[in-house]
Amino acid sequence: MARFYFAPLALSLFQAGHLLAQRLNASTSGAVQMHPSLTWSRCAVAGSCSVVNASIAETNGMMWYNDDLDIHCWEDHVWNGDVCPDPETCYDRCAEHPITDYRELYGITTSNDTVTMKFFTQSTVVNVGNSVLLLDPTSTQAAPTNKYQTFFPLNMEFSFDVDVSQLPCGLASSLSFKEIPADGGISTDPLNEAGAGAGTGNCDGRCSTDRQFIHGLPNVGNMSGACCNEFRLWHGNAVSETMVAHPCSAPGLTTCIAASSGGACATPSCDVTGCEFNPFREGTPASFYGVGPTNALDTSRKFTVVTQFITNSNSSTGALTSIRRFYIQDGTTLPNPLPQIAGITQTDEFTDQHCAEQKVAFGEANVFANLGGLATLGSAFQRGMVLEMGIDEDRVDHMLWLDSTFPPGADPQKPGARRGLCGTDTGVPADVETNNRGAQVVFSNIKFGPIGSTDAFEVTVGSSPATGATRQEAETAGGVQVRVGAVG
Ligand SMILES: *[C@@H]1O[C@H](CO)[C@@H](O)[C@H](O)[C@H]1NC(C)=O
Ligand SMILES: *[C@@H]1O[C@H](CO)[C@@H](O)[C@H](O)[C@H]1NC(C)=O
Ligand SMILES: *[C@@H]1O[C@H](CO)[C@@H](O)[C@H](O)[C@H]1NC(C)=O
Ligand SMILES: *[C@@H]1O[C@H](CO)[C@@H](O)[C@H](O)[C@H]1NC(C)=O
Ligand SMILES: *[C@@H]1O[C@H](CO)[C@@H](O)[C@H](O)[C@H]1NC(C)=O
Repeated sequence: MARFYFAPLALSLFQAGHLLAQRLNASTSGAVQMHPSLTWSRCAVAGSCSVVNASIAETNGMMWYNDDLDIHCWEDHVWNGDVCPDPETCYDRCAEHPITDYRELYGITTSNDTVTMKFFTQSTVVNVGNSVLLLDPTSTQAAPTNKYQTFFPLNMEFSFDVDVSQLPCGLASSLSFKEIPADGGISTDPLNEAGAGAGTGNCDGRCSTDRQFIHGLPNVGNMSGACCNEFRLWHGNAVSETMVAHPCSAPGLTTCIAASSGGACATPSCDVTGCEFNPFREGTPASFYGVGPTNALDTSRKFTVVTQFITNSNSSTGALTSIRRFYIQDGTTLPNPLPQIAGITQTDEFTDQHCAEQKVAFGEANVFANLGGLATLGSAFQRGMVLEMGIDEDRVDHMLWLDSTFPPGADPQKPGARRGLCGTDTGVPADVETNNRGAQVVFSNIKFGPIGSTDAFEVTVGSSPATGATRQEAETAGGVQVRVGAVG
């Protein structure tokens, strides 16, 4: 998870009034955090999309806590033991400052449908990594009624453009659907009075223990993990990319106890490893994805990622049975490549069967299936998902699981060990924080709607392009699909 720390001599920022932590200080309850605006498109059918004027909330903003005497409650990645000997004391004494400048503090800028996030930002403090949640513009922006945008992805399609050209080995961008409480937990957590506008209630399918707050309480000592159903549509840099499903045994946000401070939860309620579809790991030639024109998807330039959530009844009430993916760049549509691993059926669809075959081929336990697989995620999709976009390093595994050979010491010949072309010595935080300070991701052109509504394309088969052909028809025809025009 992203983090934030104080540079030497960096104390002067805390002169503004307090906006309180996860509760609202009555004397400042009128304060509203600044939220960069971001538009996205809600599509009905192809060609009919309407713009939603939304905004985003940083969830890496929880470090702006001081007590009444302006002592930093959060410093050097930990709660200050003097003011935060325990969660309750910390909660009583500390308060959040309003975030008034996303660009200066977080390196986040937006323009219409585009958000740019820097990996490393130095102002009077240093910020490493970012994570933003999309807010619902129909809710007010002030607590307690502020809300995240809720997506119901079943039988729908989600599309976005991403530019990962400035994301080298060891760093990654991500875009996820997570079962975060839409109100940030304000209605259920007595100690959370800040709500969605302050980015509260975040959780993930890895049950991460590096959340600063869980249920409104400071996570002192990183002894708790926050778990929730998650489908990461995108986790990628210029070298590798993957999508990952993390089903959980319980709905909503649940907590688990870490075996040690900052360690993994002993009995997480989610499939923390998840089932993923990383084309390179599935045996696709490296020339499918990478920097430069020799790659089918040239990561030196932006491209479109389209994801479809198919149910067994072709309706929003059916069970999630398949997730389909295609990519678009320069008007050319690329289907998800077919796995090239012995024992894995050559399908471009993300299904329970694919996960089962992959886990056997890669020699991993199928926790994904034990937790109900895609059907479990589908149930979460029916309850509603929140959209998160982020950029980060990986302090534990150095992102080797995404772009290199993993786990450390694994035989590269072993199926599933190689995930990308990055060296096993890449992604060390001290290294990337020094040498890759210019790293950034640009997300844009988010669209959501019924299957086929966000990106119209035609198929070039022989001499008679068939406009509006379905993706399956295109693949069956074996054609390269040519997009005839962006919709919306
Ligand atoms: C969104 O913002 C644009 C530009 O300010 C405006 O023209 C449009 O009416 C807004 N749409 C909605 C639904 O508010
Ligand atoms: C609450 O706000 C008041 C007025 O700004 C301030 O004096 C007080 O220190 C704040 N409480 C905390 C815990 O920051
Ligand atoms: C943003 O949208 C407005 C209104 O549609 C338009 O005038 C402006 O050129 C756009 N800006 C950019 C950078 O695309
Ligand atoms: C604890 O979590 C914070 C983020 O809340 C992180 O910055 C820090 O590195 C974590 N510490 C450990 C020991 O995991
Ligand atoms: C769902 O739609 C696909 C084609 O888009 C079709 O092949 C399939 O039979 C449909 N399934 C049901 C249950 O209607």
